[in-house]
Parts: sequence; C-alpha cells; structure tokens
Amino acid sequence: MHMENKKERYTITAALPYTNGPVHIGHLAGVYIPADIYTRYQKAKGKDAIYICGSDEHGVPITLRAKKEGKSPQEIVDKYHKLIKESFEKFGIAFDYYGRTSSPIHHKTASDFFKKLYDKGVFIEKESEQLYDEEAGQFLADRFVKGTCPKCGYEEAYGDQCERCGTSLSPLELIDPVSTITGSKPVLKKTKHWYLPLDKYEDWLRQWILEGHKNDWKPNVLGQVKSWLDDGLRPRAVTRDLDWGVPVPLEEGKGKVLYVWFDAPIGYISNTIEWAEKTGKDWKPYWQDENTKLIHFIGKDNIVFHTIIFPVMLKAHGDFIVPENVPANEFLNLEGDKISTSRNWAVWLHEYLEDFPGKQDVLRYVLTANAPETKDNDFTWKDFQARNNNELVGNLGNFINRVAVLTHKYYDGVIPKPGEFKDSDKEVLSQLKKFPEKIGHLIERFRFREALSEYMNMARMGNKYLADEEPWKKIKTDPESVQTIMFITNQIAAALGILGEIFLPFTARKIKKIFNIPEKYSWDDVSQFDSSLLPAGHQINKPELLFEKIDDETIQKQIDKLLTTKKQNEKTMYDPLKETIQFDDFTKLDIRTATILEAERIPKAKKLLKLTVDLGFEKRTVVAGIAEYYSPEELPGKKILVLANLEPRKLRGVLSQGMVLMANTPDGKPVFISPEEDVPNGSVIS
Ligand code: 2FM
Ligand code: ZN
Repeated sequence: MHMENKKERYTITAALPYTNGPVHIGHLAGVYIPADIYTRYQKAKGKDAIYICGSDEHGVPITLRAKKEGKSPQEIVDKYHKLIKESFEKFGIAFDYYGRTSSPIHHKTASDFFKKLYDKGVFIEKESEQLYDEEAGQFLADRFVKGTCPKCGYEEAYGDQCERCGTSLSPLELIDPVSTITGSKPVLKKTKHWYLPLDKYEDWLRQWILEGHKNDWKPNVLGQVKSWLDDGLRPRAVTRDLDWGVPVPLEEGKGKVLYVWFDAPIGYISNTIEWAEKTGKDWKPYWQDENTKLIHFIGKDNIVFHTIIFPVMLKAHGDFIVPENVPANEFLNLEGDKISTSRNWAVWLHEYLEDFPGKQDVLRYVLTANAPETKDNDFTWKDFQARNNNELVGNLGNFINRVAVLTHKYYDGVIPKPGEFKDSDKEVLSQLKKFPEKIGHLIERFRFREALSEYMNMARMGNKYLADEEPWKKIKTDPESVQTIMFITNQIAAALGILGEIFLPFTARKIKKIFNIPEKYSWDDVSQFDSSLLPAGHQINKPELLFEKIDDETIQKQIDKLLTTKKQNEKTMYDPLKETIQFDDFTKLDIRTATILEAERIPKAKKLLKLTVDLGFEKRTVVAGIAEYYSPEELPGKKILVLANLEPRKLRGVLSQGMVLMANTPDGKPVFISPEEDVPNGSVIS
C-alpha cells in the first residue's frame, strides 16, 4: 500500500432502489438517511469513505409496472431513475455516486462476474421443471407468480419471497400458485439454469458471521442469518427465463438473463468503478483491500441477499472483500398501516418536497429520531408536527436564535472576551467537548436515534445554561459575567454547526453561516479546541430563523390526503356495478325459497358440496362451491334462495339443477341469504 493511503477506508453502500415507483419516507428512514449520516460522519472524522448507490433497474416488478402503465421497461426505469435521483439530491443524501444497473459498465461487470464463476466451475447446471404460464407463453420467475407461503400460510406470497414472514422462496415452493400476468394456473415446463451452491458455504458463513461477528452485527440481522443457516441452505438459481436484465453470457444461456439479485449487488461494484472513472481514482482498493471496511445499509427484507447470497458470490469469485457489517433496519409504518406502493399508502418524497419546500431537515430529523432501528416504527403527522414544534423550533432553533440575537444586541455581533470561568462555566465547556466522542461512538454502532438525541442534548445544555445564567438580567448588574456567558454559548452554537452537518446538513449550513464558522473545522476540533472554536473578537452574521412552527391546518391537510387514499382503496374493494338491464331481463330469473335437506362432499373436489334441496313442489340436487367455508353437517335445515330455472350443468360428475344464491363478503366467504320470516318452500322472489 502507498503511504498516502494510510487513511482508514470505508466503502458504504445503500440498497439500490427498484425503479418501479418513486421513493417514500420508509426508504429514507430505513436506508438512505442512516447511511448518509454514517458516511458524513466517517468523512468528518477524516476517513477515506465513499457512499455508493444507484437504481436497480432490472427485475420482475419493473416489467410488471411497465405492463400496468402500458410502457416499455426502459421507459419506466428512465422515468423513475430521474425522479428517485432528484428526490435523494434534494434531501441532501450525499452519494459519491448514484448510478444505474442499465449502464454498459454495469452490464459488463455483472456479465464478467458471472463468467468468472462459471469458468471456475462454481455453478451447478441443472435442467428442471419450472412454472410456466401457457397463456402468456412465459416462465413464471419471482414476482410473476403468487401463492400461499409454505411457512406462514400468507396467501399473497411471491415466488421469491414472502413479505409477511420474510422467508425467501422459490416459485415451486408456493402452495396454489397463480400467474400474476394472466391470473391463470401455471403448468410445469423444462428449462436449464445455473445455480449457486450456497450449501457448500454453510460452514464458512457460520464461522464468518455467527462466530466472527456475533458481537458487532445487529441482533435482528444475526437472528435471520442463524435461522437460514439452521434451516439448511440450498443451491439457488442465479439465472432466469426473462427478457429484461443482463443477458447470460453463455451460448447455452441465450434468451435468459441473470437473476436480478445476482446483478443488483454487483451494482455496488460497477457504480464504484464508474465513480472512479469520473473522479480519476482507483476503484480496486475500495473492493479488494482487506483493510477496507465494506458496510451495506439495507432494509430487513434484503438481509438474506446481503449476508448470504452476495457474500457467497464475492467469496466464490475470490478477488473481493466481504462486508464488515450489514446494519439492516426494520420497517417504518405510516399512521398505523404498512407503507405500500400499490395501495399508494406512503408519503412520497417528491410530494413532500412540494408540500414542505425548504423543510428537508425537518423530515430528516423526524425520520432519524423515529428510525425503525430495533423494531418496526410508526410515522404519524402529529408526531412530525410535535417534533418540529417542540424539538426543532423549541430547542435547537430557539438556542441558536437566542445566542445570535443576544450577541448582536449586546456586542454588535462580535464575540466578547470572557472573564474568569466559574466552575459551572468550566463544566459546560468540558461537557461540550465530550459530545463528539459520545455521538461518534453511537454512530459507529449504528445507533442513529440515540446519536441524534445526544446532538439535541447539546442544544438543551445550551438552553439550560442560558436559563440558569440569565444574561438578560445580568447585563445591567454584572456585564463582565455576560461576556463569559455569551462567549461560551457561541462555542456551543459553533459545535452545533459543526456536528450538525451529519444529521441536518441544510440547518448546519445555516448555523455555519450565522456564526461565520470557518470551513476548516471538523469533527475532532469540537473535542480538541484549546480556548475556543470561535475566538473573542470573531464577527458573526445576522440571525436567521432555522425552523418555523407547523400549524394544525397544514398537518390536517396531510392527514386528509391520506384519508382520501384510504377511501379510494376501500372503493376498489367493491366490485364495479354491472351493465344496466331491463325489467324483462330480471323477470326471466326464477328465484325460489328452499330448504337444504342434505349436504355431502364430492370426492376429489376440494371446493364443492352436493346439496339436496326442497323446493316445495320438488326435491333437487344443487352443487355449491362452499366446501372451504361450510361443513356438510351444519347445513341441513338451512333456509336458502335458489335460482331454479338455470340450465342444469354437470360439475365433477354431479348434475347441478340450479344455483344457491349467496352474498360474497370482502374476505371471500360466501354467506347464505334466507327469508326473514318463515315462508313455504318454492315461494317466488320478485
Ligand atoms: O429491495 C429492493 O428495493 C432492491 N432493489 C434492493 C437491491 S440492493 C442491491 F443488492 F442492489
Ligand atoms: Zn410467509
């Protein structure tokens, strides 16, 4: 290694967001803000840190979105890449590079990576039967198929993962799979794929993570890793029969692409390569030097990919380091409900920017203070308002403003020369110098909420000092002590400007401007200064308000917006009204009251029951699709309505002479309709 490279090096990545929709507060809180704070901190400490991200532009959700919007996948990724990148920039997420996985360098890097593993004989080649949608003429990989999770019974699990219990799945494991393209039931068809033999790396993974990192990785991450390892790992296909993605670089792989979860994490590498090309740097030390610390910031749904699959890929390849830590967060909910792109249940960043111009730091603050670090958390607009009004306006903003205003009022904005320090003054200064280490220690352990809370304690300490010392009273009686007070409070303000940069970059910039803080100051100066950060005689600038109160009306507007979404979602729960019919159409239906006499199951028909019903003038057999909801024993004696002139039809070998009328509840359960009073069987409904 060269001498000038002695600085500790960090390669920090944030999960590449899928470009199938805009980004919302959940993304920001879970991944991009913590990674941003972490990187800003390492840089402030003088480390050689880079923050790498980019758009994840492959994968099934994007092709599904394209189908839904009637556009091509390329049009979809172009649209959302731009929107996402802009949102991040506007929130001050300071990536060193934000790329995209559709770039030529990425395609080449991912392709070469695959080829290298192939040449090394790492993969298992296997022909197998896969789910195939005959109507769409397509294999059903990943999110093209839905069904019941074999682990937890969730009925909406996808072919790659159950979003309820987090289990990673393969399409063939789903119970009752259905194509998400056509809704049809898939068939099995043969196809060839390449598998990464994860099972061969089990011992290594155990050693490296469960032993080597048992004390420094988060418990939620270790817990998931342990559960996967205890379940036993299986070879995992890293290619797919799709046409959107990085083509498999093999003759026999024509028409197939790399699995999105194979190519996406390689995006961290290719984006670093692109960054290096643009900045004239060498990318290799960031991925190949054993001393570099690779840190992946992700949400909990990505844990398996970043702790097992990608590390196995890196290890199998041989040229790369593996992560030092994978600090995964839990999920952020919104007003008590799971954030959902498809249900539009989210606070979208681009909409927030429109509704709250200039208030990026307020959201950064609330999302950090309330980050889902150890458990799922809830974002509410009331909490947002309270934190802004009480903590940002009431504490931080108030302190900065009072110091700037009083310094101007008493000393024309020139920091006064302090008198002799009392014990209480010395105590405040000594406390002040301890904050960088306290905050830093928390950040190094990924405890961003507590770190931010310590930062706010600094302002709290300043406010308390002012309240205790009451310079506004002493200015008449003891002006010399006021010089000391204002000297000290200016040092606290300077520290808030310097340390604030990692949490609240826009606010920190304002504080630095107000107090005219030299750019040269960095993190350690706050703990190491001799007599002052800002010396006596230093001229500060005019005060400027950092935050303003947010009123009830503004908050109510946001709550109303969500209520409207909720109503719209409820509306879509109702089936649309059918076409208008004439009275004559109705009179053609012969609906009669009846009583169920007997009920029995039909062999090999899971859903059907054979009913014998009494129509008064005759007995009939009617087949009803209710076996999943009613057992035959509970039905005899039930009063029902039957459509009696429906053409008889054979169902599973049984001739059904009519149809039982039922109401369908929102959860799909059919409910019998009975006359409210006793009427003879066979009575006409009109
Ligand atoms: O869950 C997601 O949004 C994925 N697009 C994350 C990918 S992270 C990485 F590996 F690229
Ligand atoms: Zn599940």
